[in-house]
Amino acid sequence: MRKLLLQLDSSRLPSVFDRIVAYDSGADEVMSYGGITEADVRDLIYGCIFTRGPKDLKHTAVFIGGSDMAVGEVLLAAATQAFFGPFTVSLMLDSNGSNTTAVAAVAKMLQAAGDVRGKRVLIVAGTGPVGIRAAGLFARAGAEVIITSRKAEAGERARDLVAKRFGGTVRAVTMPDAAEAVRACKDAELVLNAGPAGVMLVPKQAWANRPRLKVIADVNAVPPLGVEGVEPTDDGVTKDGVRCFGALAIGNLKMKVHKACVARLFERNDLVLDAETIADVARELAATQQ
Ligand SMILES: NC(=O)c1ccc[n+]([C@@H]2O[C@H](COP(=O)([O-])OP(=O)(O)OC[C@H]3O[C@@H](n4cnc5c(N)ncnc54)[C@H](OP(=O)(O)O)[C@@H]3O)[C@@H](O)[C@H]2O)c1
Repeated sequence: MRKLLLQLDSSRLPSVFDRIVAYDSGADEVMSYGGITEADVRDLIYGCIFTRGPKDLKHTAVFIGGSDMAVGEVLLAAATQAFFGPFTVSLMLDSNGSNTTAVAAVAKMLQAAGDVRGKRVLIVAGTGPVGIRAAGLFARAGAEVIITSRKAEAGERARDLVAKRFGGTVRAVTMPDAAEAVRACKDAELVLNAGPAGVMLVPKQAWANRPRLKVIADVNAVPPLGVEGVEPTDDGVTKDGVRCFGALAIGNLKMKVHKACVARLFERNDLVLDAETIADVARELAATQQ
């Protein structure tokens, strides 16, 4: 039976990236819908669950994407609410690559830093989907998480999203531009730049040779890079006293995790892959590769 993936994207144009990765992960057909709102979800899910008998429903799965993390969470909730009895299909939420990228970045940073309980983690420009998920994963690991934003309201909105979904200790600070990075990074032990492509937000003087800082990572692969002096291929190399992870090193792991997750959607019909469960998949991948 053909493996069918329903791609529900909250953005107007469904992500081409997510679609290609779905094919590369084993989907035989990807049905892509853009501009999806909460009201659209129930009938689209009914289309999935009423077409194949319960024992064949593992051959149909749903991938939720789009640029807005909060909307992605609403679509995921709407999809699960449409299920009943044995009429379920597996679901994955990865708005803008948020979960898979954050899981990959956090896994590498945790491997380098060890136990982060009580440690201060700064997520620069942490109000986007990747930053919000990374903040949540660090908060869940017991870190004291700080999100930066250019605007106080956006920072508070992201903080609320993280705290509501993951709990833990999270606060937001305003960082209008890279000139403020020295102050923002001052007491951090781990720093992750989650800012947009092609914007340098952390100059070298903000992180190099700072005794408190142990690990720094950047997910922006587009020049100018997000952290000055951290190269995309850096994969744990120590520079100026700090372990460094660049966007391609993180991206390689992200791709492995993303593909493994899509493949797993077709192994059963009741899997829900979100931040924590995607982190479990990453841990299992790491264990099998050791
Ligand atoms: N390496 C990988 O495998 C991989 C995979 C997926 C994504 N990515 C990268 O991950 C990063 C984060 O993605 P995302 O979708 O979460 O990011 P995003 O939503 O595009 O941006 C994150 C935040 O950056 C701030 N921002 C936007 N424009 C800015 C500017 N000109 N100057 C300073 N701050 C600005 C905004 O926060 P405020 O308005 O609150 O300041 C925004 O919420 C991107 O660089 C993306 O390319 C990497």
